[in-house]
Amino acid sequence: MDVFEAVDSRIACRQFFDKPVDPKIVKDLIARAARAASGGNLQSWNVYALTGKPLAEFKAIVQKRIAREDPRHSKTKYQVYPDPMFGAYKDRREEHGIQLYGSLGIDRSDPVARLGQFNKNFEFFDAPVALFITIDRRLGPGQWADLGGYIHALAFLARGYGLDTCPQEAWARLYDTVGEFLRLPDNEMLFCGFAIGYGDRKHKANDFRSPRAELSEFCKFYGFD
Ligand SMILES: Cc1cc2nc3c(=O)[nH]c(=O)nc-3n(C[C@H](O)[C@H](O)[C@H](O)COP(=O)(O)O)c2cc1C
Repeated sequence: MDVFEAVDSRIACRQFFDKPVDPKIVKDLIARAARAASGGNLQSWNVYALTGKPLAEFKAIVQKRIAREDPRHSKTKYQVYPDPMFGAYKDRREEHGIQLYGSLGIDRSDPVARLGQFNKNFEFFDAPVALFITIDRRLGPGQWADLGGYIHALAFLARGYGLDTCPQEAWARLYDTVGEFLRLPDNEMLFCGFAIGYGDRKHKANDFRSPRAELSEFCKFYGFD
């Protein structure tokens, strides 16, 4: 697979097959993605990788928590989205919800089904490998942006192995449960989870293509005529 195909075929995968991933591949991905650029080469990412028994134990703890409380009401340690949302960003987010829930046949006025789908985040959409990406709290926006580079390097490299991925900010809502399980030091905070596995591309949760704004909406060209 060439780099163009890797970029083009990446999706946020929301249903995985029950098929293990060779641990060597996971380690290779995590190591290779660190070739991502970072300002001043700070390499601000920390990664925690779980599979097998530890992942099952962790998921069991999380399931108990989300049976007691609606995670959508849990406060995050960083602001995931502006409140209120505005303009094109608000529209795109809404469109994304319509597309995802529409594909799954979930009525937007059905709170139980919507919560059920949201909570699949906390099963990593059945992926056999789960990562958590954390950052030192003392680092700033520049280094947070570098996390995005690392995450996308992971996602594109995973395509090279025929794997799918899903970055998951939803986990920021359960930062305390994650922190306790991983025994995160006080200076580290959770940015997101990241699911890795063989994606069920035919599943309704994956059976749509997310739209993108027209080039003219986000880029102004100077001197290219
Ligand atoms: C940092 C980050 C966090 C995300 N968090 C979630 C999440 O918690 N749950 C989820 O289902 N998708 C999550 N996504 C996936 C986005 O919704 C998805 O990338 C976007 O809708 C575009 O779709 P595509 O990735 O399939 O092209 C996240 C993506 C990024 C980059």
